[in-house]
Amino acid sequence: MEDKYLIEGGSTLNGTVCISGSKNASLPLLAASLLTADKCIFKGVPHLLDIDNMIKMLSGLGAQVNHQGSQIVIQARELRETGMLHLYARKMRASFLLLGPLLVRLGEVCLPLPGGCAIGSRPVDLHLKGLSSLGARFQMENGYIRASAGELRGCEVPLSYPSVGATENIMMAAAAAQGKTTIINAAMEPEIVDLADLLNKMGARVTGAGSSVIEVEGNRELHGAAHTVIPDRIEAGTYMIAAAAAGGQVHLERVIAEHLRAVIDKLREAGIRIEEGNNELLVRPGRKMNPLKIITGPYPAFPTDLQPQFAALLSVVPGESTITETVFENRFLYTKGLQQMGAQITVDGRTACIRGVESLIPAQVEATDLRAGAALVIAALMAPGRTEISGVYHLDRGYENLEGKLTSLGVKISRVADQAANL
Ligand code: EPZ
Repeated sequence: MEDKYLIEGGSTLNGTVCISGSKNASLPLLAASLLTADKCIFKGVPHLLDIDNMIKMLSGLGAQVNHQGSQIVIQARELRETGMLHLYARKMRASFLLLGPLLVRLGEVCLPLPGGCAIGSRPVDLHLKGLSSLGARFQMENGYIRASAGELRGCEVPLSYPSVGATENIMMAAAAAQGKTTIINAAMEPEIVDLADLLNKMGARVTGAGSSVIEVEGNRELHGAAHTVIPDRIEAGTYMIAAAAAGGQVHLERVIAEHLRAVIDKLREAGIRIEEGNNELLVRPGRKMNPLKIITGPYPAFPTDLQPQFAALLSVVPGESTITETVFENRFLYTKGLQQMGAQITVDGRTACIRGVESLIPAQVEATDLRAGAALVIAALMAPGRTEISGVYHLDRGYENLEGKLTSLGVKISRVADQAANL
C-alpha cells in the first residue's frame, strides 16, 4: 500500500532530535559480517527499509539473523545462494556490496547488475576492476553478473574515482585476501572509516581509512566482532537544514560535528547560528539569510546527499544561489516539485540556479528518490498550509521514524494511504 504525507507548513521547529545510526555505514557493515562464520553483533542499526532488505538477503543466503530493537546479531555459518537473494537484490543497489564478501566465502556468486536509478546510471565498473585486480573473474549474462575467484591475492588497486561502494567492496575482499592490498584514490567518507574499524576488530589490519590511500593486510581467518554504527550524518544534516528553513531552535543529539564540517560551514555562511557540543549541535536562526554557491564533491567536500535539501532552504533566501552537482549526473529531478511549490529554480547541465522567493506555496508533489523526498518535506515545512507528498516509501528507505521525530519538533504531519497511487 503506498502512502503519502500531509504536512501543515508555516510553523517553526523547536525541540530535540536524536540522530539514528547511519544507513550508509550499516549496509556495508552488515555485508561484512559474511566474511566470518562467527557471530557479529551490531548496535545502533536504524530501522529502515534498506536495512530490512539487507537482512532478508543475508537470511536468504543462510545466515542466522536476530534483529531486536536497534541490535542485530548475525552468524553466517553456512552460506548458499538461493532465489531469495535475487528477489531482494533487485530491490536495492546496495546489494552489490555483497559481492566482495561472497567471493571470499563462496568463491563464486551470481548477482543482478544494479540498474540505474533516478539520480544516475550508477555503473559498477570500478567495483569490478578493483576486484578483478585481486583475482576475481566476471561474466555478464542477461542482467546478471557471474563472479568467481580462487585465492584472492592482495595488490595495488588504483581507483579512477573515489567511489564509496567500490572502496567498500575492495576493502572487504582484501580483508580476507592473501597479502597486502593498497587502494589508491580511495573514498574518504566516515562510513569507510567505520567499515575499517569493524574489519580491524575482525582480525584484518586496515590502515589509512579516511585518507585517499588505504592499506589492508588480509587474514584468511577473520573472526566475529561487536560494533556500534556511527550516527547518520545525512539524517543529521537534513534536520539541521530543516531547522534553518522553518526557523526555531533545534538540538541534535548523537551527532559527530566533524562528519558535517562542510555542511556546518555552509549553514553558517548562510547566516544560521550553530553551536557545537559533545556529540550534539544546537541550530538557531540568525538575523538574515545569505545566498550561497554550493559545489558537491566526494568527502570531505559538500555531500551530494544534502544538496536537494539545501536547494529547498535556498529557494526562500533573497538573492541568487547556485548548486553544482559533480557526483551524480542527474540529481536535479526534485526541482520539479520545488517549482510546483513556487520556487524559482532553473537547471543548466550540472548547475541549478535558485532565485529566492518571498514564500513557497503548498502543493501536491511526488518524491522521486530518497533525498528528493527530504527536500520536499523541508519545502512543505516552510509553505503555510497543507502540502501532500506522495512516494513516501522513498523516505522510509533512509529516515527512521521521520513522522515521530518531526512531530516531536512541533510539526503537524500525518501519513495516509495514497488512494490515487493505489488505484
Ligand atoms: C554511496 O553510493 C551512497 N550510498 C550514496 O547515498 C551517496 O550519494 C554516494 O555514495 C556518494 O557519496 C550508500 O552508501 C549505500 P559512488 P555509491 O560509488 O557507493 C560513479 C543516499 O541517498 N561510479 O561513490 O553508489 C557513480 O556513477 C545514497 O543515501 C562509477 O562511475 O556512490 C557516481 O557518479 C544516494 N563507477 C559516482 O561514481 C563505479 O563503479 C559516485 O558513486 C562506481 C561509481
